[in-house]
Amino acid sequence: MEIHTPLQIEPAELMAGLSRALDLTEGEPMGHSIRSCWIGMHLAQDLSLPPLVSSDLYYALLLKDAGCSANAAQVSSWFGTDDHDAKSDLKQVNWSRFYEAVRFALRNAAPHERFSRRLGQMVQLSQRGLKAAHELVAVRCTRGAQIVRSLGWSEGVPDAVLSLDEHWDGSGYPQGLQGQDIPLMSRMLLLCQTVEIFWRRQGPEGAIRVVSERRGRWFDPELAEAFLRRAQDPSFFAQLGQVDTPEAIRQFFPSVTDAFRKVGDILHTAEVFGQIVDAKSPWTRLHSIRTAHYAQRIARDMGLPPQEQQEVLLAGFFHDLGKLGVSNLILDKPGKLTAEERQRMERHASLTYEILEPLTSLRSVAFQASCHHERLDGSGYAGGLAGGEVPLASQIVAVADVFDALTADRPYRAGLSVAEAFQLMRPDAGTKLNGSAFEALMARPEVINEDDVAWGEWAQ
Ligand SMILES: [Fe+2]
Ligand SMILES: [Fe+2]
Repeated sequence: MEIHTPLQIEPAELMAGLSRALDLTEGEPMGHSIRSCWIGMHLAQDLSLPPLVSSDLYYALLLKDAGCSANAAQVSSWFGTDDHDAKSDLKQVNWSRFYEAVRFALRNAAPHERFSRRLGQMVQLSQRGLKAAHELVAVRCTRGAQIVRSLGWSEGVPDAVLSLDEHWDGSGYPQGLQGQDIPLMSRMLLLCQTVEIFWRRQGPEGAIRVVSERRGRWFDPELAEAFLRRAQDPSFFAQLGQVDTPEAIRQFFPSVTDAFRKVGDILHTAEVFGQIVDAKSPWTRLHSIRTAHYAQRIARDMGLPPQEQQEVLLAGFFHDLGKLGVSNLILDKPGKLTAEERQRMERHASLTYEILEPLTSLRSVAFQASCHHERLDGSGYAGGLAGGEVPLASQIVAVADVFDALTADRPYRAGLSVAEAFQLMRPDAGTKLNGSAFEALMARPEVINEDDVAWGEWAQ
């Protein structure tokens, strides 16, 4: 029997799996990007696109929202509301139409707040108006393209992501490109993501209606026609309803070529996704990256074999992936969390597992990553596991995670010194936290900073 190591996963499968994390950031259910990809691959077949273009399109559809975490804190503070709700609605609104924009702003300006505060948010919003929408889209697209470039693609895929919100009639963002000046792949991305969103909310009729109505305005008329022809096949939408994991698009996996050498490197990809998580909140800058490196240092000093050190590093990069599904109202809250907010924050640990679960060769890493808040005495979450039930890799990541959380600034307090952090952690060593891992950490008290870790130019 062939033994699968995490490093043997196909890039096509890995990106499909990780796209589920990006869906959460955009306020969509997991599977949104995979379904958009499934729709796009059918259109690529209908249009007889060459294999290399189809391959780029496959990755562009999965990674289209890679820049989504970069504007989450901004969305949350401008709209005074849950960034997921606002972003999900944002995709349905035709921003080039003034009245729709106002309706969106009304709906999203702090809907749960008292009326006086809501009015304040509205005044702020009307002043910023469409300029704000422009800025948000520009940040998302530019960062998205930079992230995709840092994953290993030099052109094609990042260009497609950069122009994803351009409209055929020139009313889109960020450059107001028109017609054929918009890259073909970007035109396909916009069509496929809109079809998926309207199909999910309003059924096949909704998807067909939005494409018919926006044909020639948002959408390339020829692509719109191709979709409308495809949509006549009654099995098309029935099959779409079954698609939400990488397995469902396996038939479209592009073959690995030299162009994707860097893309295939799982450690590099995991690091970039760690950076995407860290970019969601100004308070978690570098957190996943530092946690991963502390954890690997501990694992090495504890004498774990290289393969297990790699798993610890991966679990460190991925550990807070589920935070992409937590609102910035909670992540960035300057005060104490309410019981309900705490529950929603704690959900990030199990979300990390749910995102990665369909990647069978990564399942043990997924479990290790999701157990980083478990404690040896059973007082942690999400499963309340105890002792040996908590994987050793998770115990090591937990020590690194706590240390980094204590030494970094948080919305409610400044970062502690290394000595203060050790003093706070010491009583838990051997009871809640792994004692040997804590010893290994204390033996090397150097804090990892920006210069010590690879850091993409986009993650400012
Ligand atoms: Fe966490
Ligand atoms: Fe963490």
